[in-house]
Amino acid sequence: MKCVTCRGPAVIDIRRQNANYCVDHFLEQCRRQVSKAIREWDMVETSDRVLVAVSGGKDSLAVWDLLLELGYQADGLYVGLGIGDYSDTSAVYAKNFAEERGLNLITIDLPTTYGYDIPNGSRAARRAPCSACGLSKRHLFDSAALEGGYDVLVTGHNLDDEAAVLFGNTLHWHTEYLGRQLPVLPARDGFPKKVKPLVRLTERETAAYCLIKGIDYLVDECPMAVGNRHLSYKEALNDIEVKSPGAKHSFYFGFLDRASALFIPEAEEDRAQLQDCLTCGAPTTADICAFCRLVDRAGGHHPEPVPVHLGSTRRGSSS
Ligand code: AMP
Ligand code: FES
Ligand code: ZN
Ligand code: ZN
Repeated sequence: MKCVTCRGPAVIDIRRQNANYCVDHFLEQCRRQVSKAIREWDMVETSDRVLVAVSGGKDSLAVWDLLLELGYQADGLYVGLGIGDYSDTSAVYAKNFAEERGLNLITIDLPTTYGYDIPNGSRAARRAPCSACGLSKRHLFDSAALEGGYDVLVTGHNLDDEAAVLFGNTLHWHTEYLGRQLPVLPARDGFPKKVKPLVRLTERETAAYCLIKGIDYLVDECPMAVGNRHLSYKEALNDIEVKSPGAKHSFYFGFLDRASALFIPEAEEDRAQLQDCLTCGAPTTADICAFCRLVDRAGGHHPEPVPVHLGSTRRGSSS
């Protein structure tokens, strides 16, 4: 197996590109794909203050590393979800990565700050764990980015993640979500700009990137996610990809190029109805936002003082 660029010994084959790469050219390829995504969708400027949501897994540590390699300045944000050993261990990986490189890592611990954890909170609130978890994370990511005055919030979603979410949303025709399934969501009242620079890389590639760069990450999957639908969509797409290399890429990028715009008006309609949550000030279509309702139903509490959404023009505005 020879590197497509230098003809030296290759360490990885990327079937959707019909190409093999040596160590150096694979790393270059990862940087090139991330730069391309950043340029194509105006994700980040070099002067931006960037906040990367890091879980301690391969994708988020890889994207943090890649952004630094490409010359961006980026802090990290880790959210402790109270999922037993899984959370304890993931925190160690995120903290070690930051400490070894002298980087700033903001941490928010859900049980300490909000008085509930995902296993108990989701049970009490009668929500699936991944749904309570996703809701909590989204809220905390948004508020941390706004409170910290960051220009952009980065997550480590990769091509496999995005294709699987798209697969689920089209299987069930969740058209209201399809209009928001974009690699960039611009900042707007109460929401930071959110970007996914890894959409051009698969999880196999981010794992290889970490391995080659010596980045230690938590390999275990979240125990609460075992058997969920998202993972079964990933498996189904992986089966298709084996027989038809590039299928995932063309499914996701074909959607972005040819279909996503059709669903934006419906997503915009939802957004037009947003007002300030009476408890926390975050944008919501109800009086109390879904996060604050979850906190209440999970038997949790709000930190004192209630977070102020700096950078948000929604607080105190009429709605
Ligand atoms: P997931 O929802 O677990 O697929 O994760 C998607 C992305 O969300 C990751 O790549 C991270 O950027 C971010 N993320 C997930 N879990 C956490 C966490 N506990 N703390 C901070 N960021 C996270
Ligand atoms: Fe959220 Fe597993 S990381 S439920
Ligand atoms: Zn090479
Ligand atoms: Zn709220």
